[in-house]
Amino acid sequence: MEVYFTREIPEIAEILLKKKDIKTVVFRKNNPISKDTLIRNIRNSDGLISLLSDKIDKNVIDAMPKCRIIANYAVGFNNIDVDYAKSKGIIVTNTPDVLTESTAEITMALTLACSRRILEGQEMMINNKFKGWEPKLLLGIELTGKYFGIIGAGRIGTAAAIRAKAFGTKILYCSNHKNQFLESVTGARKVTLSRLLALSDVISLHLPLTPESFHLLNKENLNLLKPTAILINTARGEIVDEKELIKILESNKIFAAGFDVYENEANINPELLKLKNVVLLPHVGSGTIEARNKMAELAAKNVIAVLSGRKAITPV
Ligand code: DGY
Repeated sequence: MEVYFTREIPEIAEILLKKKDIKTVVFRKNNPISKDTLIRNIRNSDGLISLLSDKIDKNVIDAMPKCRIIANYAVGFNNIDVDYAKSKGIIVTNTPDVLTESTAEITMALTLACSRRILEGQEMMINNKFKGWEPKLLLGIELTGKYFGIIGAGRIGTAAAIRAKAFGTKILYCSNHKNQFLESVTGARKVTLSRLLALSDVISLHLPLTPESFHLLNKENLNLLKPTAILINTARGEIVDEKELIKILESNKIFAAGFDVYENEANINPELLKLKNVVLLPHVGSGTIEARNKMAELAAKNVIAVLSGRKAITPV
């Protein structure tokens, strides 16, 4: 059996596969694999471990006639044509749960960086512009008592809300389903999207990218935000109409925005880089040693399960 890795991931994955006598072939470069290289290398693969940045479309799937599993090294799987994979009898798996806490933590990091203008403070210090305590220096927004609205109330949204609750916020959520656990733990109130956008002081996105969520925050919805609102996106860039959001940020119609994800990653809109009221991270939501090791382990265990004829642990 042979499994192709589109990039090096924590070595636990290779160790686990090798223990089961599964040959691993790894693209060991520090850049994303090109589609041509990928297609040239997967003809003999029984399984594929892919990244969220690899577009696993019909051409790629057709290039792996023996493949039985595509294990995405991410919880999101919008990079994979899942229906086509399924039609070819290929199981697709992802890495839920193991990155929940890390992604919820980065949500809070972005929230606080925005609300307390952390990067502006850092820039001032680095440029030697701090001349002593000032009554009105870099005034931010206190979270205590404010509304923290989560859009999408799954695992990561719930974990983010629990953390936001600890900062004294009142939780609102918008979701297709009632989340009893979230409500009982945080006292969260389920509201409509427009109500959540109009009421919340922090709006945090925690839903997958699907045709329904593409540009969910369009011009009309973005215009519902309060002038003091902070928008946080750790989900997928395409959920927000980035061009519209940039216009809103340019004219200071909201307080700030914190992004870990972007439309057209990694071709970042240069206009975004000119803004003062943003905090920008390079898609590192799950980027902790703990989460990435567990993601690698789970991806490998999914591969082993499917190639041994057992059920995948986390099929999508
Ligand atoms: C995922 O796994 O989908 C996340 O975006 C990683 O940060």
